[in-house]
Amino acid sequence: MYEITRHPVSEAVRQRAHLTDEDYLRLYRQSIEQPQQFWGEQASAFLDWFKPWDSVCQGVMQQGTATWFAGGKLNVAYNCIDRHLSARAEQVAFIWEGDEPNESKKITYRELHDKVCRLANLLKSRGINKGDRVCIYMPMIPEAAFAMLACARIGAVHSVVFGGFSPDSLRDRILDSDCRAVITADEGVRGGKRIPLKNNVDKALSECPKVTTVVMVERTGAAVGFCEGRDLRYASALQTVPADCPPEWMDAEDPLFILYTSGSTGKPKGVLHTTGGYLLQVAMTHKYIFDYHEGDIFWCTADVGWVTGHSYIVYGPLANGAISLIFEGVPNYPDCSRFWQVVDKHQVNIFYTAPTALRALMREGDQPVKKTSRQSLRLLGTVGEPINPEAWEWYFNVVGQRRCPIVDTWWQTETGAIMIAPLPGATELKPGSATRPFFGVQPLLLDEQGKEIEGEGSGVLAIRASWPSQIRSVFGSPQRMLETYFSAYPGYYFTGDGARRDEDGYWWITGRIDDVINVSGHRIGTAEVESALVLHEAVAEAGVVGYPHDIKGQGIYAFVTLMATVQPSDALKKELTALVGKEIGNFSKPDLIQWASALPKTRSGKIMRRILRKIACNELETLGDTSTLADPSVVDGLIEKRLNR
Ligand code: WT7
Repeated sequence: MYEITRHPVSEAVRQRAHLTDEDYLRLYRQSIEQPQQFWGEQASAFLDWFKPWDSVCQGVMQQGTATWFAGGKLNVAYNCIDRHLSARAEQVAFIWEGDEPNESKKITYRELHDKVCRLANLLKSRGINKGDRVCIYMPMIPEAAFAMLACARIGAVHSVVFGGFSPDSLRDRILDSDCRAVITADEGVRGGKRIPLKNNVDKALSECPKVTTVVMVERTGAAVGFCEGRDLRYASALQTVPADCPPEWMDAEDPLFILYTSGSTGKPKGVLHTTGGYLLQVAMTHKYIFDYHEGDIFWCTADVGWVTGHSYIVYGPLANGAISLIFEGVPNYPDCSRFWQVVDKHQVNIFYTAPTALRALMREGDQPVKKTSRQSLRLLGTVGEPINPEAWEWYFNVVGQRRCPIVDTWWQTETGAIMIAPLPGATELKPGSATRPFFGVQPLLLDEQGKEIEGEGSGVLAIRASWPSQIRSVFGSPQRMLETYFSAYPGYYFTGDGARRDEDGYWWITGRIDDVINVSGHRIGTAEVESALVLHEAVAEAGVVGYPHDIKGQGIYAFVTLMATVQPSDALKKELTALVGKEIGNFSKPDLIQWASALPKTRSGKIMRRILRKIACNELETLGDTSTLADPSVVDGLIEKRLNR
């Protein structure tokens, strides 16, 4: 077992921080004991309201009726842009660093206001109104953020689809949320490669007749299809509309966005977030957990296609009037020093990334890091999966030069904002632990029977009461939200994660306990990969599980049973891998495919993934009871031919 070194708060960090440990303990207690007062005060301090709310928090979380600041009127784009103009119109809002190191630009709050208002007017001129859904399928360029804010300005609900998703996945998401417009680019550029976004949109839209507008940003100028009447070129179209667009007064509980995420079963779910509570919690966590101060340069390396990009590239930082860096590229292009070169180039103070990126960079040794200065860095963060203590220490010692605290932030698409994380000036750090809950968050541990575990222990991570940025619905299916999150353990929000609470009350998240795999911070449902595999005519059946992967955190291991008449071959493996890429997106391709003459099943015919998981993880000693299987001998055959040993 790796020896954990505690890292107490340094005097320099404490001096500068917004909150001390006494502040944390006092405010946390207040947030739990007097939530109405606590959140009311925070909502007034952090956000500008057109009209005050009728009630801070009402309803019953587990019945899906929780509301925050209902009756209050505000606009997210107004809070992220307009209200900053008097003090900081000429301050930079976004720094954009392109894929190539010689490409970057800055966008001030004044320019942002102009761009967002025009795009909002353009959408309106195409009949997009409050409540309508707009799909955003974009590379990491500032226009992606403009698009989100333009929707927020007019009350349209955006659904950002990560640019790595295939045309089929894009189509499914557009149809599920019934989008009327798509905002995209001709191509994306990433790590020196082009991504054919507009072509993908054209393919997807061949089956989406209700989409009547496509706004296309010209990123590369590539020759792409153009559908007269439907398609608009962003730059020229913006010139045709006025630069003034009053923000729509939205109720705090009006929808802000939909974001699809994978679960244990079925199709991806459209997680629905609303306006007031979401914006408050992302703003507060951004300020306190990253200890953001006026003028700091904040860089979150996530893609805006995931919730991390929504909350900590766009909404949290901009609500606080911050300077947020948008990076188009990847950590290892042109070489694996890139992150640190960008830090030096733009004098980044706060840097937030995923453990998978750190592990990949760590493997390249210290030199690519050490040849850069990184003196501007003050604070580091991680998100997306558990960080192993070795990677944590490397991040701390090598990247942060033992000067920068690390905030390991646990949260989910469904939680909207960070839930468990240290406060840099308050919390002693333990590598690998997300430490303590944020204000208002009440995590707890449950055993398999749903009984609460007190004190130290391990179990299922659940949350006791509503928090402002919680999921409000699964788009189109409120019932599915109740089933997924509130039925497994009645009375609580079920996270899908396992966790341990240590002797100091610190939280250690151990990873998913459901059928979700976390590959390089991308959340993938095993059922989705299985459905893609069985589309192939040669495949009779498939069982997909995760296994530990040095860099990606988890890899995808597929057990595939072929039709009786089909001969297994490497060519067929390639076909199946490509099929999954086409059906979902390249990031979800299986790493290992094992041919299986049969899969382990219960007598009622259910695939026993628990056993497949043990085989894939090469954990044969703890295989457990196989006597309930319909045919226990199947397991021996799979073990014999296992690929990960
Ligand atoms: C799942 C949520 C919102 C963050 C981006 C991913 C895992 C997230 C941590 C962390 C251990 C973490 C959990 C969670 N996860 N952060 N700091 N330590 N695990 O959002 O795609 O909704 O995935 O990511 O398993 O349930 P997501």
